[in-house]
Order: sequence, then C-alpha cells, then structure tokens
Amino acid sequence: MTIARPIRKAVFPVAGLGTRFLPATKAVPKEMLTVVDRPVIQHVVDEARAAGIEHFIFVTGRNKAVIEDHFDSQFELERTLAERGKQKELAHLMSELPAAGQTSFTRQQAPLGLGHAVWCARDIVGNEPFALLLPDMLHHAPKPCMTEMIEAYAEHGGNHIAVAPVPDDQAHQYGIVGVTDAQAKISRVTGMVEKPKPGTAPSNLHITGRYILQPEIFELLARGQRGAGGEIQITDSMIELQKTQPFHAVRFDGTIYDCGSKIGFLMANVAYALARDDIGPELRAGLKGLI
Ligand code: UTP
Repeated sequence: MTIARPIRKAVFPVAGLGTRFLPATKAVPKEMLTVVDRPVIQHVVDEARAAGIEHFIFVTGRNKAVIEDHFDSQFELERTLAERGKQKELAHLMSELPAAGQTSFTRQQAPLGLGHAVWCARDIVGNEPFALLLPDMLHHAPKPCMTEMIEAYAEHGGNHIAVAPVPDDQAHQYGIVGVTDAQAKISRVTGMVEKPKPGTAPSNLHITGRYILQPEIFELLARGQRGAGGEIQITDSMIELQKTQPFHAVRFDGTIYDCGSKIGFLMANVAYALARDDIGPELRAGLKGLI
C-alpha cells in the first residue's frame, strides 16, 4: 500500500470581485466582512489550521492588501495593548498569528475564474497534494470539514471533494457529483458536472468548496480552458483529472453558510453568535423581540 503524501499547504482564492456585496465590497474585500467578530477568511483559516495545515497560500487581487495585513503582526497595536495591560487581548491576538514563513501571497491579476486563481498558486504549492478552501463557504460542525477530509485522504489517497445534499430543484445552481453510494460518508466519485440542466443531475450532492487535490491539476488548469460563464472553472479540470486519478466524495453533515450571498452571510452571523456563551443569550432575547 502506498502511503499518501501529507497535506501541508492550503490555497485560499480571495481575488473575486464580490459584486453581490456592493457597495460594502467597493474598498473592503468581502473576505474581510465579519461573522460576529472574526473576518470570514479568518474562520476558514482556523478550519485549515485545526486540520494540521502548515502553510497558508492566499491568491489575492486588487484592493485585497488588507488581507495580508490581517495575517501579519501589527506592532503599534500590540505595543499599545501591552502598555494598557490588556494581556488577554494581546495573548489572543498573538496566539492566532501565523509564524514567520507560514503564509504566502500571490496575485491573480484579473478575475478569470476560480480555476485560474488556483493555477496562480502552482509555484508556491509545488509538486505536492494540497487543500483548497473557498473562503465564502463556512462549514459549521463539531468536527471541522477539512479535518474529516484529511482523515479520509490518509485512508484512501487520491483527490477528495466535500459534498452535501441540496434539494433536487436547486441542483442546477451547483457543481454536482455522481457517486457510488450517495448515503455513505466516503464514496467514489463517478462523475462531475458544473450546473447541470434541470432534471439531468447525477445525484443531489453538491460540491461545497473544500477539496484535496493532487498537483497534476495544475497541468490541466494551465490549458486555460473557459467553461461555464466564460470563466476558467476548477470543475472542468477535475473532470479531466478524474480520467486518470481517483476522486472521493466526503459527505459533510454540518451546516454550510454561503457568505458570498447576503442571506447566507446574515444567517452565519446569527448562527455563530447564537452558539456563543458570551452573546448568544442576549441575541436570542433580542431576536425574539424583533420577530
Ligand atoms: P465567487 O463565484 O463567489 O465570485 O467566487 P466573487 O467575484 O468573489 O463574488 P460575486 O459573485 O461577484 O459576488 C468564489 C471564490 O473564488 C474566488 C473568490 O474570491 C471567492 O472566494 N475567486 C473567484 C477568485 O479568487 N478569482 C476569480 O477569478 C473568481
């Protein structure tokens, strides 16, 4: 049995324009909008870190420099917190700071699509399997989604995609996978299709935005083939890669919040806040008053 190479690096594509959130995203990247008191991107980096990821690769674009600042030391802030005796806040900030050399930033000069954004990370990833996390999609569960995926990868090797069920009449809005067993926690992918025409989806399992991919995906992305919406799609290259390598679907059983949409973002804020001991009870009472 070949031992799967460890997953050390994760790619976070954050170069999209965030047009659905204008004007909020005119000067502030949508990944920096907060779910309670943490930027969306921080929640997703937390998930990757909890899964044992050691190197965080951000594919950024214009107007996204603040993301780089967020994951850097802020000397003046840290000194001021120390001078004011705010040791708890300082310790919290420092505990979350990536160590020197643990982050990389590269730029996608034009938003040509998710596949193109991932391809921009090819030299930093190099010739090893890697995790890919879409920062819009918050996966909320007792056990983080990427932890489950890395465990599945350690057992099966190859490529992995997190999936979750959607109502049949919504399948045409998503990337959908066909699998050997739609009820199993881990099953073999038999096919993939981006936004299938209504009634033609091979299952009701959609691709949720968490992947483990082998580096051969970069050779396929390099072709720059345009797909749905005229964009270079990651799914098209995965379909090609599946002709020569195994893909597994890892069924995610928690709740997913699409923070790229207004409703998903608002629901995430309410759900994450309600789950907190410090503000949950007060929010619950306040919401009852509102509704
Ligand atoms: P979306 O499809 O949500 O696009 O991208 P978007 O541009 O960010 O948002 P809208 O639709 O205009 O509101 C999904 C993820 O892929 C990244 C985005 O940053 C987001 O995290 N992405 C998308 C890129 O990095 N580059 C691209 O060319 C496209």
